[in-house]
Amino acid sequence: MCQVQNYKDAEAAVAAGTDVLVAQGNEAGGHTGTMGLLPFLTGIVRRYPEVPVLAAGGIGDGRTLAAVLTAGADGAWLGTALLATPEAVEVHDIHKRLIVESYGDDTVWTRAYDIVSGLPWPIGIGERVRRNRFTDEWSEREATLRDRADEFRPAEGADPFGAPPDPDISEIVYGQSASFVDGVRPAADVVRAISDEAEAVLDSRPRSLLGRPAT
Ligand SMILES: Cc1cc2nc3c(=O)[nH]c(=O)nc-3n(C[C@H](O)[C@H](O)[C@H](O)COP(=O)(O)O)c2cc1C
Repeated sequence: MCQVQNYKDAEAAVAAGTDVLVAQGNEAGGHTGTMGLLPFLTGIVRRYPEVPVLAAGGIGDGRTLAAVLTAGADGAWLGTALLATPEAVEVHDIHKRLIVESYGDDTVWTRAYDIVSGLPWPIGIGERVRRNRFTDEWSEREATLRDRADEFRPAEGADPFGAPPDPDISEIVYGQSASFVDGVRPAADVVRAISDEAEAVLDSRPRSLLGRPAT
């Protein structure tokens, strides 16, 4: 299985024999590329009809799941929707609360935290995180941040899961699908609610759009 954000990487993954492609759109929480999910997903489905495809990025309710299945995906890959669950034990309570409070419009695609980390992320890859004072200050000033990255690096040996995150400056990862999360619920309940709603949408929409029953 290989998660891709652009056609060049999809080509390489298929050439290497991946059994499943995960087409990830820019709506996603975490590291992602620049293409929106719908055009990228449909481009991947058209190019590789013989490869099973999962859609990732912005899926968190039955309508979004039904949309990607209708567009040709074989399933969906969820991140943000599963963060506000008791099973996500590494995710701090503050992080879960911010996801629950979010309408999904308070995120930003940025390279600021990657520059501070010093890790060599590929060109075209950034990260969708909660927007805050740090991202507002540095997202558009990458060259200056590169020069000053040492000032912001955590101390050697610091436990990234130890201290609670500071909403003003910490890297709090979630995507636009936070808009669908309205509470902390068991992961099984989240998956069941999304699947049940998608089934209902897939059943009712053909009737309302085409005037005939789903087959
Ligand atoms: C907290 C968090 C950490 C992530 N870490 C990774 C990772 O290490 N590798 C990866 O391929 N994708 C990672 N992702 C992206 C997910 O695999 C997935 O594409 C994304 O969460 C889907 O979009 P959604 O957040 O809207 O559901 C991460 C996402 C989140 C929210």
